This record gives sequence, structure tokens and C-alpha cells, in this order.
Amino acid sequence: MKQTDINVLMKENVWDLIGKQWMLITAGDENGFNTMTASWGGIGWLWNKPVAFIFIRPERYTHQFVEKSEYVTLSFLPEEYRKALQICGTVSGRDTNKVADANLTPEFIRSGVVGFAQSRLTLVCKKLFKTSMTEDCFIDKEVLKRWYNDQPGGSLHDVYVVEINEAYI
Ligand SMILES: Cc1cc2nc3c(=O)[nH]c(=O)nc-3n(C[C@H](O)[C@H](O)[C@H](O)COP(=O)(O)O)c2cc1C
Repeated sequence: MKQTDINVLMKENVWDLIGKQWMLITAGDENGFNTMTASWGGIGWLWNKPVAFIFIRPERYTHQFVEKSEYVTLSFLPEEYRKALQICGTVSGRDTNKVADANLTPEFIRSGVVGFAQSRLTLVCKKLFKTSMTEDCFIDKEVLKRWYNDQPGGSLHDVYVVEINEAYI
């Protein structure tokens, strides 16, 4: 992995980057880390900073690592790693070494910042803000019903705003 300017994002189609290509959200360090696939989120600007918005249900094992870490990484993999993203998005790091099962190689960019050798783009992000969704915040109750009340174990997401500090290709 080689560091590059975060303006590398100007070359990406951010419409499709998270929602269609999917990403890995990873947090932790050499003593323990976890990763999960995510397709909900966005990239944009807030507080005059380049940011990403990510949504993590509290029951995800990754959530514990995100909570403890100052940084998270967002990793974007080439299309041939779709299977790896499927694995990391369907099994929990609590139960299995899914990183090995997905044939991913962790790379410790520095202590507390973990990415993967297979990523074509890795964003190193610093947590700025977190809030937990509450039912009363849903203006459209159909969304609440569809994605939470009607879903077994569908707990409300925690929302994190993270600052995009560094990019690696
Ligand atoms: C395509 C795809 C997108 C996903 N997007 C999210 C997401 O945005 N937020 C979330 O909390 N879980 C999302 N998940 C589910 C987690 O990736 C999944 O529950 C994973 O197994 C959690 O792993 P962990 O327990 O090791 O953290 C997604 C899964 C897939 C397959």
C-alpha cells in the first residue's frame, strides 16, 4: 500500500463506491481487530472536513473495535474480491477467522490502523461524532418498520461521522 492524496477520491464514483462496490470497515490493532462489510454510508463534507458517514448495528463484533479505536479504515476492494466481501458480511469475527477465510491479508499501516493488502483504496478515518438512532427520530415510520421493527434482531444503527485523513492505494 502506498499513501496518496485524499483527492484521489475525485477519481472515484462516490455514488457507486459504498452502495454498489461495498467496503470493509475495520478497527483494532495488532492485538486484535475486526472487519465487516458495509454498503450503507456516504462520503461528503461536514464541518468543512472531508468525512464519511457509516452505520453500524451495535451487535456487530466490529462495533466493539470501532468503539475502542480512535481510527477506522474503509477499504475498497477490486471486483474479484466480491466473495471476500460476502464472507465478511455474513459471518462474524466472533465465531471464525473470517479474514483468513476470505483470503485477506491484514496490513498494519501503523498501530491502531489496519487495512488489507488486497484493497485498491483504503481510507484512514478519525472518529469525530457518534449518535445512536432512536425510534422517535424516524419521520417516515415505514423505514423504521421495514428495516428495524420487522427485522429479527434489527437493532437501530449507531451512526459515526469520521474524518477522512489519509488515503492509500
Ligand atoms: C453487502 C452487505 C452490506 C452490509 N452493510 C452493513 C452496514 O452498513 N452496517 C451494518 O451494521 N452491517 C452491515 N452488513 C452486515 C455485516 O457486515 C455482518 O453482520 C457481519 O457479519 C458483521 O460481522 P462482525 O460481527 O464480525 O462485525 C452488511 C452485510 C453485507 C453482506
